[in-house]
Amino acid sequence: MDLPVYTLQQLASRNGQDRDEIWVAYKGVIYDVKKSRLWRDGKHYEHWAGQDLTAEMKDAPHEEFVFDKFQAVGLVKKA
Ligand code: HEM
Repeated sequence: MDLPVYTLQQLASRNGQDRDEIWVAYKGVIYDVKKSRLWRDGKHYEHWAGQDLTAEMKDAPHEEFVFDKFQAVGLVKKA
């Protein structure tokens, strides 16, 4: 996978509020969820875009297949 790497700070600005882009990271991969009406304005139930939400997936009524239809746009820079 040859994707650009972004810091958590760069990811945070794609929260659906500060910029037009709406990105969510899962297991270190950043997905563009802008086309989803379920992530409108960056909010998905009680979760906000612009973060790595890997740990929160256990609270979801679904599994990671929900990312299948979204394009990976980057990778989260490791600390
Ligand atoms: C309380 C927590 C959550 C609830 C109630 C919730 C609920 C839902 C529902 C009802 C759907 C659409 C039906 C389905 O595909 O099963 C959905 C889709 C989705 N969820 Fe969640 N979810 C939660 C947490 C999360 C988390 C933590 C993530 C990311 C790690 C996430 C990512 C997604 C994505 C990417 C979709 C697909 C959106 C689309 O197809 O337009 N969800 N969620």
